[in-house]
Amino acid sequence: MGEFITMRDIDQAVDAIRARIDIVPEVGLILGTGLGELAESVENAAIIPTPQLPRWPISTVEGHKGRLVIGELEGVKVLVLQGRTHYYEGYGMGHVTMPVRVMQRLGCDKLVVTNAAGAINPDYVPGDLMVINDHLNLIGMGGANPLKGPNLEEFGPRFPDMSQPYDRQFLKLAQQACEEAGIKYQEGVYVSLAGPSFESPAELRFLLGIGADAVGMSTVPEVIVARHGGMRVLGISGISNKANLDGSTLTTHEEVLEAGKVLVPKLTALIRGFLTKL
Ligand code: HPA
Repeated sequence: MGEFITMRDIDQAVDAIRARIDIVPEVGLILGTGLGELAESVENAAIIPTPQLPRWPISTVEGHKGRLVIGELEGVKVLVLQGRTHYYEGYGMGHVTMPVRVMQRLGCDKLVVTNAAGAINPDYVPGDLMVINDHLNLIGMGGANPLKGPNLEEFGPRFPDMSQPYDRQFLKLAQQACEEAGIKYQEGVYVSLAGPSFESPAELRFLLGIGADAVGMSTVPEVIVARHGGMRVLGISGISNKANLDGSTLTTHEEVLEAGKVLVPKLTALIRGFLTKL
């Protein structure tokens, strides 16, 4: 097994999935920590446990189930990844983002990514939804870009543009969906770090200074790979905790999981509304 994911790795997983479904999904959905419950709403669902798929990165984190749920939501054919993997679990960036490649090869030309995130913006409170309008790829700037290694020409160019990582029309549709459902939303910049340790107060003040509104340990690598392949992306953060800029409170994984319970109904309404507008 080489360091980088190849077309062969991707297509073997695609073939294994195709053998078990008879629809062509249009929208890929990745559910973040504590947000997996949304997958239960998928109708006519085929369920594939991801450990059964060749070279699939297996999720080891509590709050991530590790299965694909393929079916319909609001009449749209969706492929839901319930349980993503993260760089801190030990996988390479190409491996972490392999599910996005597979989604695209299966037919998805749109991606909805969700995550649990800490609030850096002082106006945000736990339970808020943030529609992502841009990102800071701090891990990627440090060298861990998911496109490192041989370029997969079948998907896109060596040097992909990143001027609009989050589709502006999708952003508007998501905001309309929130307004119609009476859900308060924020709009802001997501910064991804490697984790798994949470941030120190000085790191959080630094992140505030460079323009981040919310911080997490995922999403950006998936979005870069999706954009490389030309998929249109909607990104949503569920704010699970306030960043601890002065070191006065603790941040725990339990807190993040707990916030998911408040966030899931809102996120479900947002995504359902968004899908009906596509
Ligand atoms: N920091 C990093 N990642 C996170 C946080 C946080 O505060 N909350 C949820 N994911």
